[in-house]
Amino acid sequence: MEGTGKIWMNGRLVPFGSARVHVLTHALHYASAVFEGLRCYRTPRGPAVFRLGEHVRRLARSAKMYSMEIPYTEAQISAAILKTVRASGLDECYIRPLAYRGHGWMGLTPTKNPVDLAIACWRWTAGESRAGRGAAGIRCKVSSWARIDARAQPMKAKAASNYANAALARVEALEDGYDEAIMLGPDGAVAEGGAENIFVVRDGEISTPPLSSGILEGITRDSVVQIVEADGGRVAESAIMREDLYVADEVFMTGTAAEVKAVASVDRARVGSGRAGPVTRALRRAYMDAATGRDERFSEWLTPV
Ligand SMILES: Cc1ncc(COP(=O)(O)O)c(C=O)c1O
Repeated sequence: MEGTGKIWMNGRLVPFGSARVHVLTHALHYASAVFEGLRCYRTPRGPAVFRLGEHVRRLARSAKMYSMEIPYTEAQISAAILKTVRASGLDECYIRPLAYRGHGWMGLTPTKNPVDLAIACWRWTAGESRAGRGAAGIRCKVSSWARIDARAQPMKAKAASNYANAALARVEALEDGYDEAIMLGPDGAVAEGGAENIFVVRDGEISTPPLSSGILEGITRDSVVQIVEADGGRVAESAIMREDLYVADEVFMTGTAAEVKAVASVDRARVGSGRAGPVTRALRRAYMDAATGRDERFSEWLTPV
């Protein structure tokens, strides 16, 4: 990755190359970290962060679920995010705030360590991968790894520990020649992708797994739902089974990094035409219009940098 600008660490902007942590940082050993992923887009009114308030609120809630007291208010975190973007000089970037247990005490109990906060940003137009950004769509594999049971850990938290599971699924998918994994929940229903929520279109109906299925409460997911509703449609929240993916007219994934990505095939079964379908294309366009300030109806989602 391209190291640009400065990284905000506990209130100080430090040069990209000097943003270091101690090797005994608790989070490195016990995954005691929660984080966010946001994007700043170039808009007609200058660079703006998309749904800043919602991302910072989710960070605060993720921290609360893990008894982490971030020593900054949501307003202070929002201001620090804007400051970090400004200091980078970038007019479009991905932003990664990370709250983590630092060092001082070693052992499982996280609460004996301070909660540190870091905010980095970088140019990341492609997000996790270039695959699926065009009409071609991504090839997905239903993972042999089940998504973590929400009775085992809070899956609504965007916690580092969730990503050990997602990374196993991602690596398996890549090694088997796919672009991304789709994970089933402990009940066998479709949960989410490695770093995306999932939607299915069939006979004109758009559906997505309910939040009760142990998935991340995706902000892109919510944006897509709100866009569909603003245009007079609706998205059903209902259980999606593996076989529903095979016979769908369209499947697409949403996420801050991925934006709106078409799924071309699942387990080598072609989805619809095998290319981005009309609903996916329309929603991708509508989402990008909202995120880049071209759709005034959603201008309150943008915070100028
Ligand atoms: C596991 C998982 N699900 C869903 C999403 C999508 O969430 P959002 O749209 O808020 O980026 C992400 C990305 O952050 C993710 O990591």
